[in-house]
Amino acid sequence: MGTVEWDTLREAATRAAADAYCPYSGLRVGAAGLCDDGRLVVGCNVENGSYGLTLCAECTMAGQLRLTGGGRFVAVTCRGDGGELMMPCGRCRQLLVELGGPECLLDTPNGIRTMREMLPDAFEL
Ligand code: THU
Repeated sequence: MGTVEWDTLREAATRAAADAYCPYSGLRVGAAGLCDDGRLVVGCNVENGSYGLTLCAECTMAGQLRLTGGGRFVAVTCRGDGGELMMPCGRCRQLLVELGGPECLLDTPNGIRTMREMLPDAFEL
C-alpha cells in the first residue's frame, strides 16, 4: 500500500455522516476506511428505538467492506457531519482489529496511531 490520503478519507467520512439515521441522539457519525486493495468504503450510524441495538458508523462501514469485495482495512477515520474527529467506541475498536488487524491505522486526537495502540491486548479467539 502506498501513502494514505488522509484528507480524502476524512472528506469521505464527513460526507457519509450526512446520511446518518440518528433521530434519538441527533449525532451524525461517518466512518471511512481505506482497504488493502486501494478502494474506499464508508458507513454512517443507523440508530434503533431500542437504543442498544444502534449500529455505529463503523458497523455499517464493516458491512460495506464485506459487501464490496472483502479484504482488510488499512486506515480508518471517523468524523461528524461538521468534519469533527470522532473516536470509535470500544465495540468498534474490536471490529477494526478484527477487520484490519493490529497494524490498521486510526486517525486520533493524538495523531495517526495503530489499532494495536488503540486496543491493546485485544480479544482473540
Ligand atoms: N456512534 C458511532 O457511530 N460510532 C462510535 O464509535 C460511537 C458512537 C454513534 C452511535 C449513536 O448513533 C451515536 O453515535 C451516539 O452514541
